[in-house]
Amino acid sequence: MELKIYHDYQTLSEHAADEILQEVKNHPHAVICLASGDTPRLTYRLMVEKSISQKVDFKKVTFIGLDEWMGIPPENEGSCHYFLYENIFKALQIEPNHIHLFDGLSTDPEKEVEKMNSVISHKGGLDLMVVGVGMNGHIGFNEPGVSPDLYAHVAPLDEITKSVGQKYFKLQTSLTHGITLGLKHFMQSEKVILIANGEKKAPIIQRALEGNISTEFPASLILRHPNPVVMIDQGAASLLNK
Ligand code: F6R
Repeated sequence: MELKIYHDYQTLSEHAADEILQEVKNHPHAVICLASGDTPRLTYRLMVEKSISQKVDFKKVTFIGLDEWMGIPPENEGSCHYFLYENIFKALQIEPNHIHLFDGLSTDPEKEVEKMNSVISHKGGLDLMVVGVGMNGHIGFNEPGVSPDLYAHVAPLDEITKSVGQKYFKLQTSLTHGITLGLKHFMQSEKVILIANGEKKAPIIQRALEGNISTEFPASLILRHPNPVVMIDQGAASLLNK
């Protein structure tokens, strides 16, 4: 595993943006899955800025949204859909047929799951996943205790996810289920980049990298991934024993 520790959030985000740009330079047709959330916000802003200044063409990339809150419409600013459009797709002018996101309003979630699984398998799998880690160790909405054998699925949300998730919404919002790529996608992605920043993530990073490898703490599975890059700032690294 490559573990990269940076001085601060800005430097971490600069380097994470560079990693994504490098992937697109190497593979202009890459299939890239992106998380939403506070952690990658600056990475994505810098990625967009650098893609313009360095003239890196993202138009052939296929984008896959990692997850979505069930029952939340795309125009809600707390949705993953809204986040990815506002932070990336609009600025890079990505064609809609290169964007595959879960529909949180779907009345047939099983069909939604099948559709996403088939898009990814028809593309030959994921080249890169960029993920954060939740305060309960989740990856996407792969909550503690999730089966490692799942591809996309609908997940009942853990209590921590329901309460921490309120930070994305202007109003108190009922969050019960998420729809997410599964740990099979995570483990089979050619490469994964996990990013985390701040001291509040320090115990999470310590448990993920130095605790037992178990689906009780899904982020720990990164230690079994064949090609993982963990990019964190000094705050998130502060409890590591090294
Ligand atoms: C969001 C997602 C979540 C977040 C995680 C960390 O698409 O998949 O697993 O990555 O909850 O969220 P932040 O970055 O807000 O701390």
